[in-house]
Amino acid sequence: MSKIFRSLFFAITLTLLFSANALAGPVLDRIVKTGELTVGTSHDFPPLHVKAKDGTIIGLDADLANGMAMAMGVKIKIVSMNFYDLLPALETGKVDMVVAGMTMTPERNLKVAFVGPYFISGQSILAKHETVVKLNDAEIAEKLEFILAVPKGSTSETITEAILPKAQILVAETMDKALDMVLTGKADAMMADTPFCVVADFRNKDKDLEVSQMFTFEPLGVALPANDVHLINWVENFFMTIQGNGTLEKLTKFWFTNPSWMKELP
Ligand code: ARG
Repeated sequence: MSKIFRSLFFAITLTLLFSANALAGPVLDRIVKTGELTVGTSHDFPPLHVKAKDGTIIGLDADLANGMAMAMGVKIKIVSMNFYDLLPALETGKVDMVVAGMTMTPERNLKVAFVGPYFISGQSILAKHETVVKLNDAEIAEKLEFILAVPKGSTSETITEAILPKAQILVAETMDKALDMVLTGKADAMMADTPFCVVADFRNKDKDLEVSQMFTFEPLGVALPANDVHLINWVENFFMTIQGNGTLEKLTKFWFTNPSWMKELP
């Protein structure tokens, strides 16, 4: 073989080698090879993700995670952790994606990719009637001095300063712990995603609480490693399909309009 042919042959072999490796994105490739999709979520935000009596995580997010694993033909491994630990776990490759009612904020989006929205949320306050009346008037709300519990690492924590500058903030580890602060009188109110506030109000009917207006517009999405275009593309197409064929609407209706799943909670 002449020298020229030999180097051409070498170049072609190299190209083939590289394209064989580049068949799937790095994360998707690992998911398919190991036969397991590892999804990070949390355990304190019903009806999206909440720990049931039997210890499993149930909710819209769990259904979406299971649906994706099924469509990929792999097993699902749901790893539940505190909300503020989820993005570090994604960035260090401990989980393949995060499905945890996460708002697609511009700041988070600088670090990770998002596909969505699969649900539109926003922040509300859960408090006694008198406090909620004051909060529903923006001018009064701005001057209101009160103790507000917010879950750590959430958008609730980041927006309160701007919209409720006079509030004294207590940062809680989880949404449940923020709720406890309200129920035990440590805080006057808590801020969290509206669906959480509605469920908490429903489950504590005797406590005479109320849910305020929605203060923000928050599109929730699936967080993905920024370096895997193929996985991002796969998740986009999965969501386009379940949106188009009515599955997402059915699931959302199940979790948001019928409280029957609450029987499964501790
Ligand atoms: N949507 C809010 C955010 O992205 C809260 C998400 C869920 N929080 C939780 N503690 N499980 O910040």
